[in-house]
Amino acid sequence: MALPRVHSGVSVPHEYLSRSDAELEKAIRAHKETLGSELVILGHHYQVDAVVGLSDFTGDSFKLCRDAANATARTIVFCGVRFMAESARIVARPEQVVIHPEETAGCPMAEMAELADVREAWKILSAMNPGRTIVPVTYMNSDADIKAFCGEHGGAVCTSSNAPRVFEWAWNKGDLVFFFPDEHLGRNTADKLGLSDREVLIWDPRYAEAHGRDERYSETRLVVWKGFCHVHTRFKVEQVEAARRDHPDAHIIVHPECPIDVVRAADSAGSTEAIVRRAQEAKAGETIIVGTEINLVARLARQNPDKTILPLVPSMCLNMAKITVSHVLWVLDNLGAIGVVQVAPETAVHARMALETMLEIG
Ligand code: 13P
Ligand code: SF4
Repeated sequence: MALPRVHSGVSVPHEYLSRSDAELEKAIRAHKETLGSELVILGHHYQVDAVVGLSDFTGDSFKLCRDAANATARTIVFCGVRFMAESARIVARPEQVVIHPEETAGCPMAEMAELADVREAWKILSAMNPGRTIVPVTYMNSDADIKAFCGEHGGAVCTSSNAPRVFEWAWNKGDLVFFFPDEHLGRNTADKLGLSDREVLIWDPRYAEAHGRDERYSETRLVVWKGFCHVHTRFKVEQVEAARRDHPDAHIIVHPECPIDVVRAADSAGSTEAIVRRAQEAKAGETIIVGTEINLVARLARQNPDKTILPLVPSMCLNMAKITVSHVLWVLDNLGAIGVVQVAPETAVHARMALETMLEIG
């Protein structure tokens, strides 16, 4: 059982919100100085600039999970959404403390696959595919109990940076890959690996019973949950077409959580870390148009003044933005008393198996 998703109701006091960023940053740096190697701050690329500036390591969700697994500090402060901090808790050593500075910073997509619905789907898929081995793969953007389900059933976690490798791994183990919760990452990965539309079945949990009457399973190699990220489904093909008209020489790169027609229309797709790398490696004078979260795109534009870096359209992840330097100072002033991430031991055991499988695949 995962611990219930109940918020304590404790939120950052006004005295922290009313201080200037410079004052807050000074106090955070003083904590970092005192704690030295006992503290590590991890920050996802979608965090606001001030938080990224205070982070010891930044990255996409795969890199940060690996950083958490390799961390030696006693305290890991994870600036990102909850599933990221929870994954860090699961791969970190028991004596380490993992802190998430804002407990309400969740990922709506991660909540689109509930364990009871996944179990029901598993039952139906098993009945509809006798003699075939089904391998569950969950996107990192999922709750700990969903990762535990995958660990328990011989599956793995994947992220946007390694989905093709993890899918290949899963097909080496079995016949049918069951992927949740992001339809778009699932379809884009299938497309990249050359699967035909007939080999991919979209699972809508609202119509589980109807999926139990589907006759197409013998051809199906991938079943994909119908979940989505509202930040990335804002991107449309028409925007890509307009960007090409306005900037014919530009390179258009998007995140694989975008719909498949957007990814197909773009020049490339990649995780947030891959997007950062592409921007850094661009030649001076190059124009890059990016379809992902605006805090990252705006930062890349500021950090690369010799290149033109533009958003496809601005789209913000409000959950990522819930974490501010006020939150970081608040948890450091109250170290070990606020924001400590906990995962029930029986969930953590199996979730760790699925995460470690992913870390081994790389
Ligand atoms: P990355 O793993 O590419 O950082 O993606 C995480 C995410 O939530 C994107 O919306
Ligand atoms: Fe979740 Fe989308 Fe925000 Fe990523 S950008 S954390 S998938 S809501």
